[in-house]
Amino acid sequence: MSELDDPHAELAAIAAGVRQHLLEEHDLGGAGLPAVAVPAPPRAQAAPARPQASLAAVTPAGPAAIAPAAASDKVARLQLLAEQAASCDACALHEKRKQAVFARGDPSSPLVFVGEGPGRDEDRLGEPFVGKAGQLLDRMIAAMGFERDAVYICNVVKCRPPDNRTPRPEEALACARFLVPQVQIVAPRVIVALGRCAAENLGVAEAAGPWRGRWGSFQGIDVMPTFHPAYLLRSPQYKRTVWEDLQKVMARFGFGPTPGGAA
Ligand code: URA
Repeated sequence: MSELDDPHAELAAIAAGVRQHLLEEHDLGGAGLPAVAVPAPPRAQAAPARPQASLAAVTPAGPAAIAPAAASDKVARLQLLAEQAASCDACALHEKRKQAVFARGDPSSPLVFVGEGPGRDEDRLGEPFVGKAGQLLDRMIAAMGFERDAVYICNVVKCRPPDNRTPRPEEALACARFLVPQVQIVAPRVIVALGRCAAENLGVAEAAGPWRGRWGSFQGIDVMPTFHPAYLLRSPQYKRTVWEDLQKVMARFGFGPTPGGAA
């Protein structure tokens, strides 16, 4: 009898999957399964109006300018953008890059994560979030119930800032020629902005004051700003806070509890 035909083996596999999910959730500070299933909130929740930051302000076209694309069309358009990024010299960051780092994951995903910029490992390997912070991000994604490659991941800037410093406003602005159409083409339902740099550049955080955990909007797409995984590596006491932010995102997709209420 194959494992697929054996109900005991199948149950054991499901139990192992649930256990793994709970371990990952626990790793992020979660409290495990809720005792009572909490119904998902209605989808329509108006994002609060926020002042637009640099990238949104310079964008010539809103989402309506780009018609919904077939998956193969998306891939072709993103490929073209990635090729342009690979030879871009619009800001000083190109001088020290090994390669531009465009994105990883599924371009048809309803969930996009936007980070700050490639680090040393990403610059070397050409993929975003492959270092220690990326491994934590992968665990966060798994705890949310998504496959690693079922989401789409990119950064505000595509070239590594020296010494992993935060990208300067003029560098983020120069790279908006890639990030803005990239997000428009993928057209996700939700963006998670990882860290203040991504949140500010997507126009969902003021330059000062509290900025994470509240829904914002970038060109009509809901954005949840939360702490960057690299910050969590240094300050693990905020894992629980990030997990609460991610649960608000999960609630948008109709699963998971909504502690403290969404938005
Ligand atoms: N930090 C980021 O913001 N992006 C990466 O790709 C890696 C680390």
